[in-house]
Amino acid sequence: MEIRIQSLEHIHEAAREFIAAMGDNTVFALYGKMGAGKTTFVKAVCEELGVEDVISSPTFAIVNEYRSEKGGELIYHFDFYRIKKLSEVYDMGYEDYFFSGALCFIEWPELVEELLPGDAVKVTIEEQADGSRLIAL
Ligand SMILES: Nc1ncnc2c1ncn2[C@@H]1O[C@H](COP(=O)(O)OP(=O)(O)OP(=O)(O)O)[C@@H](O)[C@H]1O
Ligand SMILES: [Mg+2]
Repeated sequence: MEIRIQSLEHIHEAAREFIAAMGDNTVFALYGKMGAGKTTFVKAVCEELGVEDVISSPTFAIVNEYRSEKGGELIYHFDFYRIKKLSEVYDMGYEDYFFSGALCFIEWPELVEELLPGDAVKVTIEEQADGSRLIAL
């Protein structure tokens, strides 16, 4: 399916559409160029899921952990952009996250492609000529 984000003003309604489409899946791999809007969209989704402290920390972390204030569930947000070796991903214990049953949103999944669970949902986000974003999953 496709979800269009016409502008930032509409990102939360797009996030709600996305959440409605998530089903029982837990691992979501977000593909898209630099600046496509991956982080912004994951934040909106987390906010809609009830996370109150979605931080955009300037310090680099491979994974940020959020907790929904609605259901108390944990959500993991990964950014693998700066990964240089797969050993860094093993060392952080990626399996404990990916196979935890908790929601995982992954930016730059292409850098850890061989470690993604087989049932990870591929999501693409693309900026259109008019500045809107098109999400496909
Ligand atoms: N849906 C949107 N509509 C308009 N502008 C957007 C949208 N999503 C993100 N932006 C803007 O695009 C810029 C980049 O967004 P963001 O950081 O989310 O991209 P990214 O895909 O996570 O990039 P990176 O690959 O560097 O992590 C930000 O300035 C943000 O405000
Ligand atoms: Mg990002």
